[in-house]
Amino acid sequence: MSDYEPLIIAYTCYWCSYTAADLAGTSRIQYPPNVRIIRVQCSGMVHPNLVIDALTKGADGVLMCGCHPGDCHYREGNLRAQARADALDLMLEDFDLEPERFRLSWVAASEGPQFAQVVKDMVEELREIGPSIYK
Ligand code: FES
Repeated sequence: MSDYEPLIIAYTCYWCSYTAADLAGTSRIQYPPNVRIIRVQCSGMVHPNLVIDALTKGADGVLMCGCHPGDCHYREGNLRAQARADALDLMLEDFDLEPERFRLSWVAASEGPQFAQVVKDMVEELREIGPSIYK
């Protein structure tokens, strides 16, 4: 039996998703401890290089979370995040990485349970596909 546990880096925007992660914690909602949360001001700030860097230097998956479309505090930041996520889907193939290793999710500040569920789902998927080839 393998003792593999996936490591996920989660970029969460300050205004919504980070607050949701915080809410999940303060509400004592259980989710796997496999995630390391990095707070960014807006999901639109997460350059694809940050994601590829994480995935080629030890992370098994990267989660990017932002405000729902129309709710970004910088108006179009999450639209930029979506465009970058689309580009990342193509880049993953170039790096021989499975599509499950990157996920973009919209999580509002009040959605602590949803944040926990996104993490649970991603951990499950990553357990199934196994460790990154870059580990
Ligand atoms: Fe949350 Fe822009 S501030 S996605």
